[in-house]
Amino acid sequence: MKSAVFSLVSGALLLAQDAAAAPDFTSSKWVMKRQNGNDYACKCYPGDACWPDSAKWQQFNNTVNGNLQIHIPPGAPCYNKFEGPFGEVNTYDEAECQRISANWHDEQFQISQFPASGLWTYFTNDTCRPSTNVGSETCTLGYYGPLVLNAKKMQHIKAGVDFARKNNLRLVIRNTGHDFLGRSVGWGSLIINTHSLKDIKFHNKWKGGCGYSGPAVTLGAGVQAFEVLEKANKLNPPKVVVTGECATVGVSGGLVQGGGHGPFTNFHGFLADTALEFKVITADGQFRTASPKSNSDLFWALKGGGPGAFGVIVEATFKLFDDKPSAGVNLDINLAFSTDPNAADLFWNAVSIFHGYSTRWVDEGLYVYYELGTMGHNLHVHPFVGIGKTPEELAALIQPMFDDLDALGVPYTTSNASFPTFYDLYNAMFEPEAAGNSALTGGWTLAREDVEANPAAVIDAFKTVVGAGSFMVGHMWNAGRGLPQSAWSQSAINPRFRHVVDKLITIVPVGGNAPLEVKEEAQNRLTNVVDKALRDASPNGCAYVNEADPFTPNWQDAFWGTNYPKLLSIKKKYDPEGLFYTVSTPGTEDWEQIETGTRLCKKL
Ligand SMILES: Cc1cc2nc3c(=O)[nH]c(=O)nc-3n(C[C@H](O)[C@H](O)[C@H](O)COP(=O)(O)OP(=O)(O)OC[C@H]3O[C@@H](n4cnc5c(N)ncnc54)[C@H](O)[C@@H]3O)c2cc1C
Ligand SMILES: *[C@@H]1O[C@H](CO)[C@@H](O)[C@H](O)[C@H]1NC(C)=O
Ligand SMILES: *[C@@H]1O[C@H](CO)[C@@H](O)[C@H](O)[C@H]1NC(C)=O
Ligand SMILES: *[C@@H]1O[C@H](CO)[C@@H](O)[C@H](O)[C@H]1NC(C)=O
Repeated sequence: MKSAVFSLVSGALLLAQDAAAAPDFTSSKWVMKRQNGNDYACKCYPGDACWPDSAKWQQFNNTVNGNLQIHIPPGAPCYNKFEGPFGEVNTYDEAECQRISANWHDEQFQISQFPASGLWTYFTNDTCRPSTNVGSETCTLGYYGPLVLNAKKMQHIKAGVDFARKNNLRLVIRNTGHDFLGRSVGWGSLIINTHSLKDIKFHNKWKGGCGYSGPAVTLGAGVQAFEVLEKANKLNPPKVVVTGECATVGVSGGLVQGGGHGPFTNFHGFLADTALEFKVITADGQFRTASPKSNSDLFWALKGGGPGAFGVIVEATFKLFDDKPSAGVNLDINLAFSTDPNAADLFWNAVSIFHGYSTRWVDEGLYVYYELGTMGHNLHVHPFVGIGKTPEELAALIQPMFDDLDALGVPYTTSNASFPTFYDLYNAMFEPEAAGNSALTGGWTLAREDVEANPAAVIDAFKTVVGAGSFMVGHMWNAGRGLPQSAWSQSAINPRFRHVVDKLITIVPVGGNAPLEVKEEAQNRLTNVVDKALRDASPNGCAYVNEADPFTPNWQDAFWGTNYPKLLSIKKKYDPEGLFYTVSTPGTEDWEQIETGTRLCKKL
């Protein structure tokens, strides 16, 4: 009897606790919608009764020291008018339009001048593309948010998070706008721009624990790869942080939360594997430290568990490593304009030779960046990187491939160079990338066992990719080579990444302003032809959350494998209401952007 009463009481207690924790999606701050027979609770948008009135916005603007601005998209000076949710403004400015058009494809221009631009424009809907001969039409926001907070300090970010939570606004965190999947863009959102948080602080010996007492660096949320690499190179001896191949990507934002792979991945794993501590503002507005000692679950999740899904990172601390003398080699095979009737076979045989060495190269610590199909039968390896290798050592590792290419009789061009540090090689040999293009991107990684078991299937898949109108970018590395196995599970990185030999990005060009049927066809081709071919060729592979198709089937497993259930529970703990939404990250399976990709809603 006594125990029955006890269990009844504790049962009631449990229920009460559950009720307190469970978010109430029927409260008046949610907007109820119905589409295709489904019920949704949606975030609050301009025109909805719950949208804050101008007095509230003004008050918010005061708390952030006037750093809130109405967002007018970058291309507006090329149009007569900009029509936004708060009215119409005349925007035409010929000189400004020419300046923007001339620099449109320059990443750093876009990052430094425009607080919310998406560098890959597809997910902006391309409703305000600059063009020197527009001058007559009206441009609109497309999928951009109408307001930007240019955060200058931690308190501004906190104020933005609190304001978005209280008013149930869609929140977008935007650092550099590199995100391929449109995660730094969102219709009707309040955008927090973190780009001004540029502090860089070096530590000779890290005192924050983590079983590590070596050199480290703390980076504000806005620091870009080239900024920290330049400073670290000036240390004596020169140091590096694990960053990607792209110099303008931010380090403490999307890169670490997605993982962050680069030439040093062979030696130290992902950038996420080298993180020591985060300062982060969670959905409840609390400023927290996430480290092995405090909020260790959040610490683990921020290391590769999904960009923009768990909180706003204000700063992050990473291990520093010694830089080393490095050598590089370039290779180009271009049969795009060949009149040889066997050019196609010759080309694919050459690709097969090249790719056949992938496992051997990554075992030796080489990083190989290459592009395929950008001009038809074109392979552009730019470059092979040997960190800590002399030119002769690198040449010896690549020579067997050159011998095979010579035996095949395929024409190619090559060049080489060596440098006192990897940093010097990086500046000299890596090519700058372009902003302002519109494409859908996807990708998959090739697992070692699949490449070894069936190399011909890999080349057949590449043919399918290129044949379906996609470009491809490859990155050969091995994320399990240098990092001890005991450290693999210390970050949320998919365990399957530890035996990858080639990480591929697929790129299907399509206009952001194309008709819906055209977009649907391109998306279908990406998911069900291009990436499917790669998935079929490597069933043991996985996908990289920062460089993938947001509609990858079973994205939870593809991005995180066995780590997904733990990530989902951490998401529910720190963000039960879903303040932070980024497509295909933990906890977003119940969310949908209804009404043609606009209103973000929770399925009821
Ligand atoms: C040309 C190019 C080359 C690339 N090369 C590589 C590479 O070699 N290796 C690699 O790993 N990746 C590479 N990437 C992918 C890159 O990792 C992602 O685009 C990454 O998300 C960029 O992060 P960001 O913060 O600079 O960009 P943003 O687009 O500003 O942000 C990306 C995501 O992170 C979120 N976010 C940004 N800052 C914060 C913050 N402070 N707190 C919480 N969330 C935040 C945003 O909301 C968004 O969801 C490349 C991308 C491009 C376009
Ligand atoms: C916020 O305040 C600043 C400074 O007073 C002002 O320039 C800006 O237009 C305001 N933003 C909005 C959205 O009203
Ligand atoms: C986005 O573009 C599609 C066409 O591709 C169009 O139907 C839709 O209205 C646009 N939406 C916005 C908000 O611009
Ligand atoms: C580098 O290229 C030069 C030609 O420019 C060639 O003579 C030399 O053998 C190459 N060296 C290595 C180590 O690849």
